[in-house]
Amino acid sequence: MNSDIEQILITESELQAKIKELGSRIAEDYKDKIPVLIGVLNGAVMFVSDLIRACPIQLNIDFMAVSSYQDSTESSGVVKIIKDLDRNISGRHILIVEDIIDTGLTLSYLLETLQARHPASIKVCALLDKASRRRVNVPIDYLGFQIPDKFVVGYGLDFRDLYRNLPYIGVLKPYLYEGITGDNDI
Ligand code: XMP
Ligand code: MG
Repeated sequence: MNSDIEQILITESELQAKIKELGSRIAEDYKDKIPVLIGVLNGAVMFVSDLIRACPIQLNIDFMAVSSYQDSTESSGVVKIIKDLDRNISGRHILIVEDIIDTGLTLSYLLETLQARHPASIKVCALLDKASRRRVNVPIDYLGFQIPDKFVVGYGLDFRDLYRNLPYIGVLKPYLYEGITGDNDI
């Protein structure tokens, strides 16, 4: 285990087993639709790449990059599009793929923005849910795991753009970020 990690919350095999399950459900629900899976960069990069391999149907992928955290590990509520979609999603079935839903502010903004482009439907797939921190109500149609209110890294999730390459979800030792500002979500 990486020495900056206090505890492994979700192991690599637990992640992979859950992703297979989610992939099968999504494949069944969208088998006649050719959905567009939208990965939210950078955090969802590992999740989306494993999820599409677990999803044996015809589908498209696209990516958006948004920044939700300004200067800390706390959500600021300020959401900015850094990279937009490459395609027109009017009339398409959209599945947003997120790493983690925390306050819900990022997802709420994304849903509003994408809804305005008149897709045929929008659903949400999130790997992690920190429900105790929610500030706005958002729907999660496909969920991997509920997690406690701890700052987690690994499997795409970062602190200061580090730890994304860990194959598990771990809790970062708090002394590493206490009193520090400057995490940038992208
Ligand atoms: P909101 O609060 O808008 O946040 O739902 C969603 C985004 O915040 C990031 N986030 C985290 N990133 N460990 C991280 O590495 C965490 O524990 C954590 N909590 C929230 C994440 O990028 C997510 O897309
Ligand atoms: Mg981040």
